[in-house]
Amino acid sequence: ALTTELGRQLQLREVGGILLQAATVDNWSEIQHFEAKPDDLLICTYPKSGTTWIQEIVDMIEQNGDVAKCQRAIIQHRHPFIEWARPPQPSGVEKANTMPSPRTLRTHLPTQLLPPSFWENNCKFLYVARNAKDCMVSYYHFQRMNQVLPDPGTWEEYFETFISGKVGWGSWFDHVKGWWEIKDRYQVLFLFYEDMKRVSKGPSEEPLQTQDPKCEIQKVVQFMGKSLDETVLDEIVQETSFEKMKENPMTNRSTVPKFILDQSISPFMRKGEDSP
Ligand code: A3P
Repeated sequence: ALTTELGRQLQLREVGGILLQAATVDNWSEIQHFEAKPDDLLICTYPKSGTTWIQEIVDMIEQNGDVAKCQRAIIQHRHPFIEWARPPQPSGVEKANTMPSPRTLRTHLPTQLLPPSFWENNCKFLYVARNAKDCMVSYYHFQRMNQVLPDPGTWEEYFETFISGKVGWGSWFDHVKGWWEIKDRYQVLFLFYEDMKRVSKGPSEEPLQTQDPKCEIQKVVQFMGKSLDETVLDEIVQETSFEKMKENPMTNRSTVPKFILDQSISPFMRKGEDSP
C-alpha cells in the first residue's frame, strides 16, 4: 500500500553492504558529518536488543529517578536517533544539533558506519547486546507487526534472512563483534540484556542466575558519572521493569499509529524474556 514517497523512503538500501532505510541512505552525508561533542553519551544497540529499556534506564538516571520528568515525551523523542531520517520531519542529526548538552543520543549503526566524530571526541558508548536467538525471534515478530518494514515471510525464510544479515542494520554477528572488539580502546560500557533481567527462577523457585537489574543499573550510574541513593536505585529498578514499561504509554509505542506499528499482530513489548 505504501507506494508513496513515504513507501520509497522506508525501503531498505545498502551502505557498505549494510541494509538501512532508504531515507537514511539519502541522508548519508549529513549523518557521516555529524559533529559529536566530548560529553555526548551514545546508546548503541543492534535492533531488538533492549534499546527502549536501556533508554528508559538512562533517562531515569539522568532525571534522578523523577518519574514525572520521564513522562515528558515518548521514549523515541527523548534521545535523538542519529541515523533517523523521514523528510520533511527533522532528521536525527537535526534534532541532536538543537539539543542542549550534555546529550544522550542513540544509534543502531555498526562501528564501521558510525560518524567518525564520535571516535575523534572519545564519547561514551553504552552498548547493550542480546543473545542472537532472542534477537532473531523479537526481530521476526517486529517485522510482522511493523507495516513499514519488509514482510519477514515464514519463520524458516526469516531464519536465513537474519543469519545472512539481510535485515536492517546488517548482521547481528558482525554488529556485536564489531562493538566488542573496540570496547577496550574507547569509553565503552558493554552490557548484556540477559544480565539486566530480573533473577529468574528454576522449577522449584531457586534462582538460576545471580545478576539482577540493580547491579547492571549501578554500572550505568557509575559510567554516567552519577551517584544515586539506594532508594532511587530501587525506584529505577521498579519503574523500568518489563511489566511497568509494557503499561507505560511513553515506552510501549501505543502512540504510534496502527498503519505503522500494528500491535494487534504482535505487541511492541512482546515477552521481554531471555530464553533458557
Ligand atoms: P521481545 O520482542 O523479546 O519481547 P528494542 O527496544 O531494541 O526494539 O527491543 C525490544 C525488545 O526489548 C522486546 O523484546 C521488548 O519486549 C524488550 N523490552 C523492552 N523493555 C523491556 C524491559 N523493561 N525488560 C525486558 N525486556 C524489555
